[in-house]
Amino acid sequence: FELYLDSANIEEIKVLAGMMPLAGVTTNPSIMAAGGVGLTQLLPELAEAIGPTSRFHVQVIGDTVEDIVAEAKRLHDLPFDIVVKIPAHGAGLAAIKQIKRHDIPVLATAIYNVQQGWLAALNGADYLAPYLNRIDNQGFDGIGVVADLQSLIDRYQMPTKLLVASFKNVQQVLQVLKLGVASVTLPLDIARQMLTNPATDAAVSQFQQDWLAVFAERLSFD
Ligand code: E4P
Repeated sequence: FELYLDSANIEEIKVLAGMMPLAGVTTNPSIMAAGGVGLTQLLPELAEAIGPTSRFHVQVIGDTVEDIVAEAKRLHDLPFDIVVKIPAHGAGLAAIKQIKRHDIPVLATAIYNVQQGWLAALNGADYLAPYLNRIDNQGFDGIGVVADLQSLIDRYQMPTKLLVASFKNVQQVLQVLKLGVASVTLPLDIARQMLTNPATDAAVSQFQQDWLAVFAERLSFD
C-alpha cells in the first residue's frame, strides 16, 4: 500500500513524515501555488524528510498534447522518482499514449467518472486518481466510481493502481481502503485527524495524574 500526502507544505510534511510511513507526496498546480515554493526547492527537502525511496506525483500545467508531452519529459529528467500527473481529458489521454512509449510513469488525474479512468488505464496510465469528494459534490457517487474502477482493474488484471484523491473526511478514506485500493493521498487536515483522538489524550493525561499521585518520579521501576 502507498500512502501519500497531498500537499507542498514542507514543514507540515516533515512533521507528519515522522509519524506515518509515507510513500511520497502528490501535488497539483493549486497545491504548488499555495505552498509558494518551486520544485527545485521542494523536492530535495521532501526527499530528505521522507526518505530516499520517496515518490513524487507532479502535475503538468500545459493543456495541449505537445505541451503536456514536453513537460512530462522535463519532469522525468529531474533526479527524483517522479510520476507525471496528466488530466484525463482528450489532450491528456492522447499525451498519455505518447508518453508511455517513452516509458515515463504516469498518473491520470482529475478523474470524475469510470469511463475516463478506464480509457486512461487502457492508454497505459500507471495510476488513476479519481476525485472522490468532487464527484460527490457533483451529485454522483464517488465511492461507487472508485469501486467500479477497482473492480475493472481486478477483473481485467490491469497493472494500473488507484490513487484515490480529494478527501474531505476520514470516513471517505476508510471506505476506499475497504475496497482494496492500492493508494490514497491525504490532505494534511485529514492526515492529522487520522492520528488524533481527544479521548486518547484525556486517557494519557489521567494515567499520568494517577501515577504522579503515588510515585514521585516520572520514570520509576521500584
Ligand atoms: C490530488 O492529486 C488532487 O489534485 C487533489 O486531491 C484534489 O483534491 P481537492 O478536491 O481537495 O482539491
